[in-house]
This record gives sequence, C-alpha cells and structure tokens, in this order.
Amino acid sequence: MAKFSKNSMVLCFLVAIVFVISSASASTRLKKFDHPTKGDGTLNFLVIGDWGRRGTYNQSHVARQMERVGEKLDIDFVLSTGDNFYDNGLTGIHDSNFVESFTNIYTAKSLQKQWYSVLGNHDYRGDVEAQLSPYLRKIDSRWVCLRSFVVNAEIAEIFMVDTTPFEEKYFTTPKDHIYDWRGVLPRQAYMANVLKELEKALSESTAKWKIVLGHHAIRSAGHHGDTQILVDRFLPILRKYDVDFYMNGHDHCLEHISDTESPLQFLVSGAGSKAWRGDTKGINRDDVHFFHDGQGFMSVELTPTEAEIKYYDVFGSVRHRWNRSKLLLHSAM
Ligand SMILES: *[C@@H]1O[C@H](CO)[C@@H](O)[C@H](O)[C@H]1NC(C)=O
Ligand SMILES: *[C@@H]1O[C@H](CO)[C@@H](O)[C@H](O)[C@H]1NC(C)=O
Ligand SMILES: [Zn+2]
Repeated sequence: MAKFSKNSMVLCFLVAIVFVISSASASTRLKKFDHPTKGDGTLNFLVIGDWGRRGTYNQSHVARQMERVGEKLDIDFVLSTGDNFYDNGLTGIHDSNFVESFTNIYTAKSLQKQWYSVLGNHDYRGDVEAQLSPYLRKIDSRWVCLRSFVVNAEIAEIFMVDTTPFEEKYFTTPKDHIYDWRGVLPRQAYMANVLKELEKALSESTAKWKIVLGHHAIRSAGHHGDTQILVDRFLPILRKYDVDFYMNGHDHCLEHISDTESPLQFLVSGAGSKAWRGDTKGINRDDVHFFHDGQGFMSVELTPTEAEIKYYDVFGSVRHRWNRSKLLLHSAM
C-alpha cells in the first residue's frame, strides 16, 4: 500500500512536470494565420511601410500605384512593415486616424485584401494596444496587427516580428516621446522570448520560401543604417534556418541589399509616405544593389521555385527588379 502511494506520487509528479513543460512550450508558440492561396501554386503580395499620414506626403499617390499593381498581380495580401500611423500611433481604438490614414486611403478593390502588419517605433508612442485590438477589424476587416506572428501562405511562411523593443535607445533616451511599453517589460525577457519563438517557428517550417519581416533594418544604407542588435541577435538565426528574405521599413526609402555570407536578401520598403530624407550612408557598398530615396513600395511574386521582387516609385515605374530561381541556385551548388 505504501509502495502504491509512493508510485502514484511519482506519477503525479511526472504528470505535473509534463503539464508544466507543455504549457510553457504552448505559450512560446507564435500565433499562426493560415492564408489559403489561389490554388495555382503562386503567391503575389505587396509590401509597404511607414505610411499613415492621412494621405499627405504622397501617401495617396503611392496608394494609387499600389491599386494598379495590386490589380495587375491579383495580389493575395499586403504586408506592412510598421510605423502604420504617424506621428504617435493611435490614441485609442476610436482614433479617426485609423480610418483617415488606412480605410479612406487604400480604397481600391485590388487592395481589399488582408493587411498583415507589425508595429513600428511610432506605433509604440500611442496606445499600443489599440492597433493590436480585434475591435479595429470591425471598422475595417482587412486589418491584422499583432506583435509577432506567422502568416502561413502555403508555398511561403512569413514570420512577422516585433523589433522595436530591441532598440535600447527608445528606453534609455526617449527624448520627448512617451512610449507605451505595456506587454514588453522586462525588456530582456521579452527579447529572449521573441527570438525563441522565431527560432522555433523557423525550425518547424517546411515552406519553400521563408520570409522574416520586422520594422527595423538588419542592413540599411539609409538614415538609420544597420541595426547592430539585430545583426547580432537575428542574423545568425536567419542564416541558420535558410531564410530567403528579411523585409523591413523604418528608413523611408526602398533598398535591396545582399547578405555577404548567405543567400539571404535584405529588402527595405519603408517609403509609404514621407521620404526624400537625403542622408544616405554607404550606398556604394558592394552589397547594396538598389537604393531609392523617394516614395514607393515593393511587390513579391512567388512560385514554388521562382521569386521575383520589384520596386516601384511614386509614379508606379519599376525602378529595380530581381529574380531568384531555387532550381538554378541548387544545381549551381
Ligand atoms: C511627391 O512626389 C513628387 C514626384 O516625385 C515629388 O516631386 C514631390 O516632392 C513629392 N512630395 C513629397 C511631399 O514628398
Ligand atoms: C524573372 O521572372 C520573370 C517571371 O517569372 C520572368 O519572366 C523573367 O524572365 C525572369 N528573369 C530572369 C532574369 O530570370
Ligand atoms: Zn520607424
């Protein structure tokens, strides 16, 4: 009898451990959105960043060109690289800036698709939880914004990551800005968790194309330049799991930069409204293939073996294009 109760205690203990382990790993799994594609094995989408200014600074002109390209490519969705609402995010879920900078600007039929968005540093200056609120979907059903999440679009998986908390300067020298860090503190634990969740999701991915998207650049020849902490903490993970593209905004320009040590490509699309900053750094670097200081956006066309990236300016002209064929890449190696 004594032996039985001892065994059952051990059993209870083991069950408790298994429960703790499984609930801990469940809490570190990124929310995943399954986005069914057209069924012909292709996926087309647009990428825009740093845009919400009630149509000003050519935001409306960029929107018109997105309409045209979106229709031509019959896009599946739009990705936003953050800084969605200027200057200070949304003040709350009823802030008219949401409708005036999003719903009333991207009105075209071709843009009535899901918009998957991350937060940028400006978004953290408002009521950060407003943009994350499912209530906004009642106002405009296109809006999907979470801190970090995964879009599973069959041939591609897109890992959306919250990079703003990685920039220490927003915490140590916020200047006259007030950041809403609810849900982020303590910062070190938050960052460790983002990296752990990303690595887990990447390690489990079987998608043909792996894309990671955040607000801040890993590599940029624009005003803000490279983000050292992302070079240190994200880049090794992206290389390890054969990520094809890292996409971001933050610098108000369009860029295409290659990694020097892997096939990874850095694609910057942060030119949704205010641009022409005029203070570029290192555009003559060997790894920088394209830099456009003005407004514009990017399109991505994928098949299971081919990728085509195009960058458009405010007039809708293609300023840069780039292809990758996975078949060629592999047979060459
Ligand atoms: C809008 O785009 C036009 C054409 O490139 C440019 O001349 C103008 O300066 C832009 N306006 C702003 C505010 O950036
Ligand atoms: C790039 O891809 C497009 C569309 O698949 C194709 O028409 C074009 O020939 C490709 N260009 C190169 C250089 O492979
Ligand atoms: Zn930014």
